[in-house]
Amino acid sequence: MTYSWDDVRLAGDGFVLRRWRADDLPSLLRHADDAQVVRGLSDRFPHPYTRSDGEAFLAGKVVDLSDPVFAIEIDGEACGTIGARPGSGERAHGAELGYWLGRAHWRRGLMTRIVALYVPWVMQALSLTRMQATVLDINPASARVLQKNRFVEEGVLRAAIRKPDGLHDLRMFSRLA
Ligand SMILES: CC(C)(COP(=O)(O)OP(=O)(O)OC[C@H]1O[C@@H](n2cnc3c(N)ncnc32)[C@H](O)[C@@H]1OP(=O)(O)O)[C@@H](O)C(=O)NCCC(=O)NCCS
Repeated sequence: MTYSWDDVRLAGDGFVLRRWRADDLPSLLRHADDAQVVRGLSDRFPHPYTRSDGEAFLAGKVVDLSDPVFAIEIDGEACGTIGARPGSGERAHGAELGYWLGRAHWRRGLMTRIVALYVPWVMQALSLTRMQATVLDINPASARVLQKNRFVEEGVLRAAIRKPDGLHDLRMFSRLA
């Protein structure tokens, strides 16, 4: 089934979730070009984060923007993203959650509230039974966001990720409908 997310606008306490737009490029670059943001993310998210990285993202060449991948708009500016990538075949009832927020807005409970709004909405919109998320061992804030949203830690993928400073464990979390 194909979905269109163009008209979706999810308004929460202090933020709005909506589609990314081409005119978000300047604010995307401002918030994404930050080593502290990249630290918890996969290498698909580069540092430094250049103009061509931002253009590639907004053109849907980095993540599939036909999935429900939304900009987090705060005070009229796109400051981060949240999205879910659905599985296929025997995994089509599940999806992988990902998110990041510009450092200027950290530690105000925003991502906890954003996940609380987005996850139930997307699970219903895509008729999902399982939502999973993986978190690097060095990222307790993200683990806390998930735990506060009723995700359960299922286990650890040991030494699953190689970063410049060495190997890291990946913690697997999920929430069932
Ligand atoms: C992880 C991230 C999304 C958290 O966003 P946030 O809006 O600052 O999170 P919240 O304010 O909702 O805080 C969530 C919880 O984490 C805790 N926390 C925040 N920073 C922390 C840290 N460095 N160490 C431990 N706990 C931390 C908060 O205290 C809060 O828990 P509490 O309510 O029990 O006190 C944000 O830091 C981020 O975008 N980081 C870079 C990208 C990233 O790591 N994405 C996730 C990949 S899995």
